[in-house]
Amino acid sequence: MPIERTLSILKPDATARNLTGKINAVLEEKGLRIVAQKRLRLSRRQAEAFYAVHRERSFFGELVEYMVSGPVVVQVLEGENAVAYHRDIMGATNPANAAPGTIRKLFGESIERNAVHGSDSPENAEKEIRFFFSDIEIVAA
Ligand code: CMP
Repeated sequence: MPIERTLSILKPDATARNLTGKINAVLEEKGLRIVAQKRLRLSRRQAEAFYAVHRERSFFGELVEYMVSGPVVVQVLEGENAVAYHRDIMGATNPANAAPGTIRKLFGESIERNAVHGSDSPENAEKEIRFFFSDIEIVAA
């Protein structure tokens, strides 16, 4: 299987509850490698741009408000089939529907406060990684 990279975001509900280490322990135990990482507070403009694909959705305004409400940790994960594999490890968008043992089942509070984001395709992974990171900030093993 191909080695891929994907973008992971630990969302404001996760940083507020001091869960950065616990969530990353799950990712690392499952074999994904964190090859870039930074903690930041998104501006409204950045959050709107990052989630532009959802601009027409009814929840867009709430999503942006929530994503700017506190710090996030953005990171690049690397591993075999990393995009799809990371989505398996995260679980369903709504924690209520997420499988046991997934990050959103373990740590998510609601469909909005669902602890983590992950790219949904290799094409979007590339765009999302570029949104936050330059080449020199990504350091492979
Ligand atoms: P994420 O993977 O970050 O991508 C888009 C986000 O929109 C998603 O996780 C959810 O947190 C959020 N989202 C999706 N559907 C809804 C909804 N019905 N109400 C509020 N937020 C939603």
